[in-house]
Amino acid sequence: MSNITLHTLSSMKENGEKFAVLTAYDACFSHLVSSAGTEVILVGDSLGMVLQGNDSTLPVSVEEMAYHTQAVAKGNQGSLIMADLPFMSYATPEQAMDSAAVLMQAGANMVKLEGGAWLAESISLLAERGVPVCAHLGLTPQTVNKLGGYRVQGRDQETAQQMINDAILLQDAGASIILLECVPAILAKEITLALSVPVIGIGAGADTDAQVLVLHDMLGITPGRRPKFVKDFMADASSIEEAVKNYVLEVKDGTFPSAEHGFA
Ligand code: KIV
Repeated sequence: MSNITLHTLSSMKENGEKFAVLTAYDACFSHLVSSAGTEVILVGDSLGMVLQGNDSTLPVSVEEMAYHTQAVAKGNQGSLIMADLPFMSYATPEQAMDSAAVLMQAGANMVKLEGGAWLAESISLLAERGVPVCAHLGLTPQTVNKLGGYRVQGRDQETAQQMINDAILLQDAGASIILLECVPAILAKEITLALSVPVIGIGAGADTDAQVLVLHDMLGITPGRRPKFVKDFMADASSIEEAVKNYVLEVKDGTFPSAEHGFA
């Protein structure tokens, strides 16, 4: 696979071509996921739950994110690497700059942060200084204590309109990608159509420009109840490589996600 850039992803949106995103946290899975044709690797702070066994992403530090980003960069075969800024590492614009610098120097091509309009100043600063940003809206796991649980967001008129406004504001502030987690499919479609930058969805229906899943979830190895938006791609595959390739194919041809994986 040739090197994927933000320009590649924008052109894909313009041409109506969907792209696939998966998490990876180490060199071996980075190599596999990238070789299977996944355009974007997310070094997600989900590693706090998946790898470290915490019950939220809050304990993850910038240093831990940098460690995993370095490993992913070594295994990468041409995907674009997005790394999460962890909880409280971007509480002020200055802190966002310092934390993003660590992750970019570890090998990330862009950073992701969670939140709405309050992030506009940080996003502008980062973008102006050469750090592309993905803004994560909807269910933002770092604010689980405020949200009162991992719930679908934007179900009423007021919060849906707020999310649309935030997405437009953050795009205008300089965000290169918006990610929507656990929002009604119809709202995700409206936001995707309203924005010129690509929109990645997880539990956001089939009409976003891209899909993301946590690797361990789609391989069916995360213990506990599987979230509604996750499909176990190992169920019909004879190897991890085949499961990942099938995920990429199904995202691209629109087979995944089907209605059963979304929210009304
Ligand atoms: O940390 C992560 O893996 C994420 C995805 C769930 C989108 O943010």
